[in-house]
Amino acid sequence: MIILNEQEMWRCVSLDEIMGGIERAYEIHRAGNYVMPDRYVAGRDGNLMLYMPCFIDGAVGTKMLAEFPGNPAKGLPYLSGLMIVNDGETGTTKAILDGSVLTAMRTGASGGVAVKYLSAEHASSVGMVGCGTQGLHQLLFACHVRPITHIYLYDAYRKDYGPFMEKLRAKLDRPGIEITPCRDTRELAEKSQILISATQTTDPLYPDDEKLLEGKCFVAIGSWRPERRELPDAVSRLVKNVYTEMPYACEESGDLKIPLDTGVLIMDRVKYMEDLIADCKGGNPHPQNATTWFKSVGMGLYDITVADLICRKAEELGIGQRVQW
Ligand SMILES: NC(=O)c1ccc[n+]([C@@H]2O[C@H](COP(=O)([O-])OP(=O)(O)OC[C@H]3O[C@@H](n4cnc5c(N)ncnc54)[C@H](O)[C@@H]3O)[C@@H](O)[C@H]2O)c1
Repeated sequence: MIILNEQEMWRCVSLDEIMGGIERAYEIHRAGNYVMPDRYVAGRDGNLMLYMPCFIDGAVGTKMLAEFPGNPAKGLPYLSGLMIVNDGETGTTKAILDGSVLTAMRTGASGGVAVKYLSAEHASSVGMVGCGTQGLHQLLFACHVRPITHIYLYDAYRKDYGPFMEKLRAKLDRPGIEITPCRDTRELAEKSQILISATQTTDPLYPDDEKLLEGKCFVAIGSWRPERRELPDAVSRLVKNVYTEMPYACEESGDLKIPLDTGVLIMDRVKYMEDLIADCKGGNPHPQNATTWFKSVGMGLYDITVADLICRKAEELGIGQRVQW
């Protein structure tokens, strides 16, 4: 069995390979060649444990994440956890990975894939609401797939953006990108062509203003509970369709459930990333410069396709700590 820490996981795979893992997850989902129960969530006193098993050909993965909202005030990460990879034939444990690093990698890559298929090819500005772990990785992938020259930041609880900007500069694979904090989300939306959010908010982050939000590419990562919502109704009104991972997202996320319940959005306009990608690959690209929206709740298939890739590379390259039970 191999145990892999953060540095070792990043040494195994490139950004393009991680995004390849996400596109493979969409292909497997579209073909129906997997077993993935709905995420099981156990909770106590506002603290949550998430269990996400998934079978694909050749491998089984289970991610366990702890989401403890009081952690940031204690200087600890909001999310932590483990990913266990089992052999698909024997069930033997093949590897244990850092679950929070895997989450940031695959969630960042799912945002990157959405930006690649839904944003204007020459988009040069991106706004990030929520400057935490997911925010950092969303920006890393967005800047990898688009010729970004300006990043705009907003975080309701961050007074000093210095440490976040330092971490971001160290991770970006291109130098010279200008990074600017904004005073509010209106300023951020005015300046950015791509708008990404990764927060725990229950109230929409942007003003409900169609004029302000028209023509932007939205990637909404944060809400995976029915009471949490990042985007205002204006986005539902502006887009032709919203793209997500699977039908379950409509129950799980307030970003979809609330506008569906109030009739601002209808089910016929909820579409799936896997079909959009298949369409694009079949020669039907998405129209550029329209308002577009990817709503992510994440899925165990992302975890196992990316973790499986990391395990194979770790075996091939001799990376990680070998452990005998
Ligand atoms: N879609 C997915 O697959 C997926 C994966 C992982 C995490 N998430 C979700 O993404 C969210 C962020 O996760 P994280 O690990 O980055 O957490 P984090 O605590 O590291 O970062 C969140 C940031 O958002 C900021 N924030 C919170 N409320 C805000 C508001 N109203 N306005 C502006 N900024 C605000 C916080 O100050 C913090 O800096 C969580 O809700 C998490 O559950 C989704």
